[in-house]
Amino acid sequence: MTDSLKDYPRVRQLAIRSLFQIFEESSEGTIIVDHQGHIVWMNERYAQRFGLPNAEAAIGQPCEHVIPGSLMREVAHSGKPILLDLLDTLKDPLVVMRLPIQDQQGVTIGAIGFALFDELHTLSPLLMRYQCLQKELASTRSLLQARRARYGFAHFIGTSPASLEVKRSARRSAASESPVLLLGETGTGKELLAQAIHNASPRAAKPFVGVNCAAIPESLLEAEFFGTAPGAFTGADRKGRLGKLQVAEGGTLFLDEIGDMPLALQGKLLRVLQEKEFEPVGSNQMLRSNVRVLAATSIDLPAAVDRGDFRADLYYRLNVLPIAVPPLRERLGDLPALCEAMLEALNEAPGEVPGPGSSRELTAQALALLARHAWPGNVRELRNVLERAVLHSDSPLLDAQCVQRAIGVLQPLATVSSSAGDATELFYPAREAFERQFIEQALARAGGNVTLAAQQLGLGRSTLYKKLLALGILSQ
Ligand SMILES: Nc1ncnc2c1ncn2[C@@H]1O[C@H](COP(=O)(O)OP(=O)(O)OP(=O)(O)O)[C@@H](O)[C@H]1O
Ligand SMILES: [Mg+2]
Repeated sequence: MTDSLKDYPRVRQLAIRSLFQIFEESSEGTIIVDHQGHIVWMNERYAQRFGLPNAEAAIGQPCEHVIPGSLMREVAHSGKPILLDLLDTLKDPLVVMRLPIQDQQGVTIGAIGFALFDELHTLSPLLMRYQCLQKELASTRSLLQARRARYGFAHFIGTSPASLEVKRSARRSAASESPVLLLGETGTGKELLAQAIHNASPRAAKPFVGVNCAAIPESLLEAEFFGTAPGAFTGADRKGRLGKLQVAEGGTLFLDEIGDMPLALQGKLLRVLQEKEFEPVGSNQMLRSNVRVLAATSIDLPAAVDRGDFRADLYYRLNVLPIAVPPLRERLGDLPALCEAMLEALNEAPGEVPGPGSSRELTAQALALLARHAWPGNVRELRNVLERAVLHSDSPLLDAQCVQRAIGVLQPLATVSSSAGDATELFYPAREAFERQFIEQALARAGGNVTLAAQQLGLGRSTLYKKLLALGILSQ
């Protein structure tokens, strides 16, 4: 039998005969037309399906007379096969295949058609697979949409020396592939900076995926990170699930609150950073990974290392490009610009109808009050305070009283000791930057009139004048 398969011409003949025979026998119908589209042959089953007493009655008829909507004539003319098509009939639609018939010279002399089956559900595994893939595609697309980092460096407001330095280091780190460690109190803009770094990096077109190590229960964190292998679990996860590492492939993985990562996982993360490989839960296969890691924390990592809560080797691996984001109270010079940007954004918020007079501004006293608060919640707290102030005031000018109510209990600056211990070094430049912007704004509001600006600021005219000279806003 294997021998006979070596006789290729014979095998070919057999294959052709088998093909025809099988199609003819197991299909719903077979038809042959000549070059003019007239029926030359039709099997009994097909003739009966189209209401003829027998196949004989079909011979010589134009194919469309017997099979409405037939495309056999087209194939017999063009010589081009239609490998898979649906033919609507009075009963169920048929899945059909139409092939040209050529003579020895390759000239098309007619066509042969098979109605493969009328039970479309035969196709259902195929259709289901297609539907599944379509669904997967849609969800991946929306995932990617959500994975897009929204912020760029332009969103990080602040021109104080401290903010400029932070932006400078962050910008520089965008070009690198090394991990970045963002350190700073809550609400200082660590996540905003992480997104901006990703967006300015060569990976910008790839996903940005964040994992909050503190928000996910320890037992789920590993699966969340590395995914699960198919069959590792029963039920919903039977098919296996992608981990954040896989979703972030080619892009950036942002590990928020890295200080809260359990020790066991720290070792696995170190492996990703060093060997660029990982193992999904329940799998014994190592997968390669190509992600850039950005991490953030508001806790004192070296102290956590000393306590034994954080692996020293991971700390050193992550600490390649540390960026310390100072708390707001150490860069009060950013206040006027931050307030302006945030009030503008609040104006454009949905629900508010922007129009003339709808833009809100802070009075000089209100701004001065903001500069006396210690901002334990930093920029996030500032935004919340401004939002509350806007909600509770109908006037376009937000005054000190309104801001005081929005802050609640004012936490005076002096009571907050800086963990960094260098607040005194930063205080004077920050105060100077703040005073400059504060006074410049007041002066602009007063149309450059120093006397009027001094009145509005509650300062004596000569005091303000001295300040203007000292700050270099005016020259003698
Ligand atoms: N310099 C800034 N300019 C404009 N908006 C800022 C700035 N810094 C922070 N924000 C805004 O303040 C909010 C808090 O920022 P973000 O979430 O980045 O802080 P975080 O450091 O990650 O805080 P946490 O440690 O609590 O997670 C966000 O709405 C962010 O857009
Ligand atoms: Mg954050």
